[in-house]
This record gives sequence, structure tokens and C-alpha cells, in this order.
Amino acid sequence: MSQPLLTTASGIPVDDNQNSLSAGPRGPLLLQDFHLIEKLQHFNRERIPERVVHAKGSGAYGSFTVTGDLRPFTKAKLFSEIGKTTPVFLRFSTVGGEKGSADTERDPRGFALRFYTEEGNWDLVGNNTPVFFIKDPIKFPDFIHTQKRDPQTNLKSANMMFDFWSNAPESLHQVTILFSSRGTPDGYRHMDGFGSHTYSLVNAAGERFYVKWHFKTRQGIRNLSATDAVRLAGSDPDHAQRDLFDAIARKDFPQWDVKVQVASSQQLADWEQRTGWNPFDLTKVWPHGDFPMLPVGVLELNRNPDNYHAEVEQAAFSPANVVPGMGYSPDKMLQGRLFAYHDAQLYRVGTNHQHLPVNAPRCPFHNQQRDGAMAIANGGAARNYATVDSVGRGALGMGHGETELPITGDAGRYDFRGHEDDYTQAGNLFRLMTQQEKQNLCDNLAGPLSGVDEDILQRQLRQFDKADPDYGRGVRASLKALGRNVD
Ligand code: HEM
Repeated sequence: MSQPLLTTASGIPVDDNQNSLSAGPRGPLLLQDFHLIEKLQHFNRERIPERVVHAKGSGAYGSFTVTGDLRPFTKAKLFSEIGKTTPVFLRFSTVGGEKGSADTERDPRGFALRFYTEEGNWDLVGNNTPVFFIKDPIKFPDFIHTQKRDPQTNLKSANMMFDFWSNAPESLHQVTILFSSRGTPDGYRHMDGFGSHTYSLVNAAGERFYVKWHFKTRQGIRNLSATDAVRLAGSDPDHAQRDLFDAIARKDFPQWDVKVQVASSQQLADWEQRTGWNPFDLTKVWPHGDFPMLPVGVLELNRNPDNYHAEVEQAAFSPANVVPGMGYSPDKMLQGRLFAYHDAQLYRVGTNHQHLPVNAPRCPFHNQQRDGAMAIANGGAARNYATVDSVGRGALGMGHGETELPITGDAGRYDFRGHEDDYTQAGNLFRLMTQQEKQNLCDNLAGPLSGVDEDILQRQLRQFDKADPDYGRGVRASLKALGRNVD
């Protein structure tokens, strides 16, 4: 294969890339060997910080095609006609492990999807689960610390994890999913994705609706048994990366049916009245019987990135990126995330991370942000300030025509503990499982629980009992089978 001419980063042809410049055949080396020095210097700077969570991941490009009419609910232009396609980039990930950790760990999977729309980038940064472990972002750093390594031993610790979960009953729903067979998906193609939070949609008349996004795999759900997940962690730790890359390379393009649950504020208020569940609580699902799924499109991944670091490692998604015709919701977790991502990326990738090709919008964009390190798209000769009277409305913001969001309430720190129902939905999920699925769940939990301190174990068992007495009994039986004495 013919190789392009080797040059320095400044384009100067390299004299010799195999032999350093030395004084005599044995050296020492000369400082004027700039090529050697530049090569070593750049090598020393190859790493950027890994993501503080979701460090291990895989990405691919593709497209989203509209198949269902969402126009009654949103004026977002990507949904303006059936058959319209929008380019996308999707990064899958595990959550707790480091950049080199095994793809088959028991962990939620990230499902971060960017739509390069004509009105800017819309990022839906979700998971393969419809709910999450906590409902207030103030607990996120504590929760994540329990998923990472013990500060002294530098080991993962089931004691830390269950100490947190047993004290946070709102986590039980997600813990039940995590320790079910869905906690170890067989690669990224055979799992569903969820926006998880409640977001809003705004139509051309300015009416607001609330929405939950679902991505149903067309490949069929496929999970690894606990034994296979552990085996693959040793024999093929990059199992999911390989599976995704190879499938796209052989043109076996994975697809997901995109569906929504939509509700008006009034419908949500009525539902809350009836069920007692806060529709903006990320630890709860909206049952499909109450809010049916509407098909709106198909997502396909069909192109592998050319360069992992440039396109996948430097990808910077943010739940704050929504386009006109969409909006947020009062979900406290979402509100916390609106801040967290861009902030993390200013540190992880840099001030101008949105200038990089994978992050830049594919529509014209213009603002008065200027300069900083690595300013690639720096506005050229365009004016770098806005004033009210010297420029048109465009420079001040077009106005998305949303109706105002009524908000009431006194500022305060509200404790939900003790008066919100954290058990019914977790119990419902357990009751939906087949006998074999229940057995797997209890066995998967008993493994790590068998080694935790007695007080933590008892507190966690009480959580299972409250969701369903059979759940608690099942975990106790699995613990006994492993030799742990429990009452
Ligand atoms: C990544 C914070 C909850 C899904 C991240 C990153 C941060 C973060 C700082 C790294 C971003 C980067 O460096 O590019 C938080 C906080 C949360 C929260 C503070 C709670 C308040 C969630 C939830 C979900 C989620 C509920 C899913 C429903 C993801 C995904 C990524 C990620 C998929 C990886 C994105 C990628 O592939 O680049 N999170 N997160 N996070 N988070 Fe969260």
C-alpha cells in the first residue's frame, strides 16, 4: 500500500523517521532533532481526561427517518414531513467503568443520540433503562462514587454500592432492572434506548405537551447470562465495540423503532391525582396502558467513524441541546443535567469543543462567542457583539413562540422521603417477570450481597420485602444457597 509522504505537523518532509540525530553513531542525541522532539512531545499529550461517567463507549453515524406525524405536538422542523431524514450520531457506553473496562459489566448502558437538525443539534442523552437510581441531582456525585473505586483499596466495593442503595429506596426500581438479565445486554444492537426523562414538545400554536422517548431495537432484545458476561469480560472485553463495528462494516445496519408517549399537562395532572406518582419523577415510568406508544420514526446506524478519538472520544452531548418545538420539564434530575454536561466538556475537551466536526452543527450558526484555545470556527470578520438597536431581532434570538410555563411554589429544600411511593413500580416489575427471570434476578443480587456487612444486607432486604414479599424471600433463598446466613 503506498503511504503518503511523511511530514512534520507543520508539513515539512521528514528526513529520517527511524534514526535519531546523534553525535557519532553512539550518541548522545542533538537537541536540534526537532522531529524526534515533536514526536515525543505530542505522544506525551495524547490523552484527554476520560468522561467522569460513561468513560467506555462506542459510536456510529446514521440517520433518523420520520414515519409518524408528530406535528400536532411539535413544530420542530425535523418532524415537518413523513419520510424526512436527519443525520445522527449515537454513542453507546457503560457507566461506572474506566475507559478500558469490560463492555459486559453489569451496568446501565448509555444511549446518547445527536440529531444534526436544520435548526441545530438536538441531543437526547439517555440510557437503555426508562428510569434512574435517584431523583435529585444533589445525590449524583455520592451515588457515582459508590459505583467507582474505594478511596483506600482502589477496589470496587459491593458494600459501598448497597450502603447507598439500601439508604435510597427510590433506587429500587432501577436496581431491579440492573440485576435482571437486562443488566448485561449482549452488545449494543440488541437493547432498547430511552430518553428516560420527561421532556416537553411545543406545537405551532404554542401549546405544550410532555413526552417520553423510546427506541425499540429491531434486532430483538438479547442479554448475556451472568456467567457469559463474566467470561467475555476476560476473553473479549471489547465485545460490544467489536459487535457494533463489525455489523456496520458488513452492512448489517442496526435499526430502532422510535416511539413516544405524549400527554398534556391536564392528562398528567389527572394521572398524578389517580396514581399518586409525580410524572416528572425519573424513578417512575409512565405505564403504557395509561400513555400508549405512538410510532414516529426509524433510527438506523450505517457508518463507522474513521477516527475513534476525534469522533467518539471528543463527542460532547448535552441534554440542554433541544431545538425549537422542544423543551425541558420540571424533572429535578434533568434540571441538574442541563448544567452538568457542557461544564464537564469545557474541562474534558476544551472551551471550543463545539467547534470540532463531530460536535459542530451542520446548519449555519452564528453567535458572538469568540476566541479561547483552539478557536476553529471563530466567526470570521462578523461583528463580535450584539446590540438592541443596531442589529435585527435575529441577533437577539428569534423567539421560539413557546407559551409560558406556569410555575408555582415557595423556594425550599423539599424532602420526598417517607411520603412518595418508591415501591409499587419496582414491585410491579418484579411481578411481571417469569419464574426464571425472578430466579436470575435474585441470584444476580445474591452474588454481590453475599459479601456485604450485616446491617447493609438487612436494610437492603427490607427494601425488597416492601416491593414484594416474594422478592425478599427469593433473594434470601439465593443468599442461603451461597452460604450466607439470613433470617
Ligand atoms: C455522561 C453527569 C444523569 C446518561 C455524563 C457526564 C456527566 C454526567 C458530567 C460526562 C459528560 C462528558 O464528559 O461528555 C450527570 C449528572 C446526572 C446524570 C450530574 C444527574 C443529575 C444521567 C441520566 C442519564 C445519563 C439520568 C440517562 C437517562 C448519560 C450518558 C452519558 C453521560 C449516556 C455519556 C454521553 C456520551 O456518550 O458522551 N453524565 N449525569 N446521565 N450521562 Fe449523565
